Amino acid sequence: MQAGSPPAEFREQQRALERAYLAESDPIRQSGFSGGPRRWRAEREPILEAVPADGDFLDIGCANGYLLQCLVAWAGERGIRLNPYGLDVGARLIDLAKHRWPERADQLWVGDAWSWNPPRRFDYVYTLLEYVPFLGESPDIRPGPLVRLYLERLLGKAVRPGGRLIVGSYGSRSRGVPPLDLRSTLEDYGFQVAGTAEGGSPITTRFAWVDRHEAGP
Ligand SMILES: C[S@@+](CC[C@H](N)C(=O)[O-])C[C@H]1O[C@@H](n2cnc3c(N)ncnc32)[C@H](O)[C@@H]1O
Repeated sequence: MQAGSPPAEFREQQRALERAYLAESDPIRQSGFSGGPRRWRAEREPILEAVPADGDFLDIGCANGYLLQCLVAWAGERGIRLNPYGLDVGARLIDLAKHRWPERADQLWVGDAWSWNPPRRFDYVYTLLEYVPFLGESPDIRPGPLVRLYLERLLGKAVRPGGRLIVGSYGSRSRGVPPLDLRSTLEDYGFQVAGTAEGGSPITTRFAWVDRHEAGP
């Protein structure tokens, strides 16, 4: 499959997600999370275990921008300054993100991560795996065969040399679905995992990161 041609079913799933998020008024629910503010922080803040220093941070699939706002605030509490950027395939979600955060409007973009050409590079790029088209497999949380291609593309085009690609996996407490074991998932794809973190009790989110070496192309 060529980048830029996701199956119609996949695109429809993205649109349905956008409609569902926009039907909510609570900013956490507009980001696709229904567990409330305490669990939100417990299950998302561990992303910052991958962020030891100031830098430009891109959230792929940023929805209404709320995660980015939280990460900037939580990082600030740790003495770390993040310059936030967001990308989402949902144009109306990006409109909402810009409305919520007008001073960052020019750093919030519409695009499909699968085919997007980043206009610049970032110190930190955060992504989930479900942004990759699934090919006849369950669209749930199982990574499909294109995931490796997607991550390699991000490392090469979106992550700055010396920067870091952070991957997240969200399980579902209500459905009793655990997050992926991202270390082994990424290692199976041939990536060298630089670190991992997890969030929630029971563990509901996992994060793993891969570094782009300074001398990379
Ligand atoms: C679960 S929300 C993530 C919200 C927030 N980033 C977080 O991690 O909590 C997923 C978002 O990804 C967006 N999305 C799905 N597929 C995408 C793709 N291929 N490219 C860009 N955004 C995508 C959806 O529109 C949705 O807003």
